[in-house]
Amino acid sequence: MTRRKYVVGNWKMNGLIAALDEAKAIFAAAEAHSSVDVALCPPFTLIGAMVAAAPGAAVGGQDCHASASGAFTGSVAAPMLADAGASLVIVGHSERREGFDESDADVRAKAEAALAAGLSVILCVGEPRAVRESGGAIAYVLAQVAGSLPGDFDPARLAIAYEPIWAIGTGLVPTVADVADMHGAIRAKLGEQAGSDAARVMRILYGGSVNGENAAELLGAGDVDGALVGGASLTAAKFAPIVEAAASL
Ligand code: PGA
Repeated sequence: MTRRKYVVGNWKMNGLIAALDEAKAIFAAAEAHSSVDVALCPPFTLIGAMVAAAPGAAVGGQDCHASASGAFTGSVAAPMLADAGASLVIVGHSERREGFDESDADVRAKAEAALAAGLSVILCVGEPRAVRESGGAIAYVLAQVAGSLPGDFDPARLAIAYEPIWAIGTGLVPTVADVADMHGAIRAKLGEQAGSDAARVMRILYGGSVNGENAAELLGAGDVDGALVGGASLTAAKFAPIVEAAASL
């Protein structure tokens, strides 16, 4: 089965209304590459405005609460994202797992809430540097997959993003062989947990210091179906070459 390439920009805590021009330029550039699915995940405050500025484009959140509503000051629920026009959400990013103490069970609950709200999900996993150096990266990441994967889901609406923590925002990237090994191991684990048909459909993205120069090599690695991009997703000049690289594969 051929999985469509998927390139997703994670703007993190960056972007004011003025940045919508970049978003429009990114989606315009993406239109030239119809073989690639492109999405942007801006801060909550820009979701509605970005959907209005780029009708039909895939816009997502960077997190959601596990409850559909309630007394959770400062949080945003999955149905609210959908209501604002979002079609996807990132859950389990390492900056949330580490900075907000999110456990695998929390991430799973968020993913389930997002799916129930009709959103697609990008579920992030990835090891810290010490774990990579000790040789335990694959076991660590597979445990995260096991603990965070929803019990029952439509495989077309759930992607995994493998993002080694030490590669995020650092300019460091794993070797292509290490990426291929990890993605192959994740796909085998998905097969065990969700069945081989689901594992064939599910996309596994690589994230961590992806840029226009390294994208073709990283996205060309075995079992890599796309990229989750932070820093290089903030401008069309940096992001469009990554989409082009995905289209060229
Ligand atoms: P980066 O971030 O591309 O800036 O390394 C990736 C991410 O955190 O999703």
